[in-house]
This record gives sequence, structure tokens and C-alpha cells, in this order.
Amino acid sequence: MRKIDLICAARPNFMKIAPLYKALQASGLFSLRLIHTGQHYDPMMSDIFFRDFDLPLPDVHLNVGSGTHATQTAAVMLAYEQVAIQDRPDLVVVAGDVNSSMAVAVTAAKMGIALAHLEAGLRSHDRTMPEELNRIIIDALADLLWTPSEDADMHLRREGVAAEKIVRVGNIMIDSYCQVQDKIKAAQVPDSMGLTSGKYFVATLHRPGNVDDPHHLMSIWSALQEAGHPVVFPVHPRTRKNMERFGIEMQSDIVRLCEPKGYIAFMSLVSSSAGVITDSGGIQEETTYLGIPCFTLRDNTERPVTVSMGTNQLVSAATLSAALSAAPKSGRVPPLWDGQAAGRILTSLRTFLEA
Ligand code: UD1
Repeated sequence: MRKIDLICAARPNFMKIAPLYKALQASGLFSLRLIHTGQHYDPMMSDIFFRDFDLPLPDVHLNVGSGTHATQTAAVMLAYEQVAIQDRPDLVVVAGDVNSSMAVAVTAAKMGIALAHLEAGLRSHDRTMPEELNRIIIDALADLLWTPSEDADMHLRREGVAAEKIVRVGNIMIDSYCQVQDKIKAAQVPDSMGLTSGKYFVATLHRPGNVDDPHHLMSIWSALQEAGHPVVFPVHPRTRKNMERFGIEMQSDIVRLCEPKGYIAFMSLVSSSAGVITDSGGIQEETTYLGIPCFTLRDNTERPVTVSMGTNQLVSAATLSAALSAAPKSGRVPPLWDGQAAGRILTSLRTFLEA
């Protein structure tokens, strides 16, 4: 059996790797190794997602933890290289754009191990974002690039990636949602928090551009106070640490802070909300799929189809309250966001490994 390493590292990876792991395991064709780099380690940033998706515990845990970009990247490279030397896989799959995915991609490519990138081709065209640099590096090295949408294929072709390496598989985040949607519907989290369906917003913030500068974070806080409905705000550890460091107390009658949520609880909140205020990447996609308005606190997005076709709009702290009170934006679900991406990836992998 061909050996495949599936790399997961940080919150946005777990829901992408889960449906792929299950499809590959069910095929019985591969010997899989689930590798957790440990970039995220708090139980609510990591363990909860293994339970929510019924994923087995990782076969290998690299325990790299937090650090500067160079420290974290180097730690993943050193640790993964040892794992790959001891038991060399035939192919490695990395997902998304986090530091761990880039670090494993560089290590695998230098060892001559075939590399597949899940969620390839996304570009914000903003090189101040560490994720944009990670995407460019991973895509330049990958042998197989699985894309979610047409714009992603276009970026890759423009950067000179050979057409036969690019396979449009659709959006695997929608597979994740479809696989646990019954649990999400049963969870009733808004009820348990005393929230009325359609009469509250959900907020998430963690991008350095929004939360690392005290003035910027304060201006977002002021805008949230004008939301007109309660705002449930599960706080990312990076944001929590900055709020403490800057002495910002965000809790108010309008804004209800809570710990980060697992996938099922979070999606239960999102699906009955009046809209989501966020700087996350994945949430822009999930809201487009669910037809829930999304207000993205960024100047750009690497997921433009969520704006051109979906319910997403880019806002700033200055324009947020007007956008929240305007008529909700309706949208359509982009092609191949149908819950079948993992099956298409399985087909692509078989073709690649049998060639
Ligand atoms: C990372 C990803 C980002 C992704 C985000 C999702 C990179 C460059 N960034 O950002 O693309 O959208 O994850 O959450 O890879 N921390 C904890 N507990 C944890 C994890 C982090 O307390 O389990 C704290 C640490 O203080 C750490 C800080 O959060 O220094 C930032 O964590 P890090 O993984 O470096 O980046 P994120 O901001 O989470």
C-alpha cells in the first residue's frame, strides 16, 4: 500500500483534513499517517475538533507549539524531517496556508517526497499577510494542486504551474459541514445561550492586522457596540492575549465574549445568526454556503468568489455598522461546493499515484 502523510496543525486544518482522512481510509487503498504538528494546542483550538469529526488521535504529534514565524517554521521542519527519514511516505498532503503546512511542504519537497496541496491557488495579493507567503511557497513546490474554485486555477496558471498538476476538486469545507450537519442542527447552542434566531450576530477576530494594534482593535470594538443586536464573540487566544496586554475590556451589554467554540457549537451559532463579522478565511466560505450574511473585516480576500457570488462583503471598522443595518446580501453557492470534494480528491490521488 502507498503511504500517505496527512498533516494537520491549526484550527482551520482539522475540518479540511477530516473528510479527506475518512474518504482515503474508507477506500482501503492507502496506509495513512495523521500527523499533528502542534501549532495549535489549547483543547478548544485542537482536541475538540477531533471529537467533533470523530477523527482518531494523531499517529504522530510533533508538539511544536507557538513562537515567532521562524521559530515555529524551523521547529516543524526539524521534527517532520526526522519522522519522514524514519518512515518515508510516498506522498504528503498539506492543507491551507498556515506556517506548519509551508514548513512541511519545504521539507517534503527537499527530500523528493511527492507533495499535494489541499486548497491550492488562493491569493489575497497581499504579501503583508504571512498566509499569502505560505500559499505562494506551497503552490510553487506542490506536485498536485487541489483547488476549490476557478479563480484559484487562474492564479496557478498565471504563476506558471503546469495545467496537469491542477485539479479542481471543489471546497472540502463543505464536505465537513455536510458530514456533521445533523449534529449541528441538534446542538441548539443559540437556545442554550438565550439567543433568538436571526436576532444576534457572531464575531471572530484573530488576524494580526486587526488584533495586534491597540487602536485598530479599539475601533473594531466601538463598531461592534453599534451592531443593533447582541454579538457573540468567541475569542481566539491571540486576540485574548492582546486584549489583556492592551488593557481592553471588550465585554459589554452588546458584546458577549466566550471561549473559542468547537466546530459543531460554532456552526450551530452561525447557522441561526443574522450574520457573522469576521476576519477568518473559512467562515467566509461557510456563510456563503449557508446563505448567511458575512461581514469580513479586511481590505482583501483570497476567497473572492464569496463576494462575487456569495453573501460576503468586505468592510472596515468605519463601515461596519452601516453594513450591518443595510438589507442582507443574498448569494448563490459556487460550483463544486457540494460536499463531494473528498471523493474527487481520492480519484485524483489514484490517478497521480498510479501514473
Ligand atoms: C494561525 C494561522 C492563521 C490561521 C489561524 C487560525 C499562521 C501564520 N497563521 O494563526 O493563518 O487563520 O491560525 O486560528 O500559521 N495560541 C494559544 N493556544 C493555541 C494556539 C495559539 O494560546 O492553541 C496563542 C499563542 O500565544 C500564539 C498565538 O496564539 O503565539 C498565535 O498562534 P499562531 O499559531 O502562531 O497563529 P494564529 O494567530 O493562531
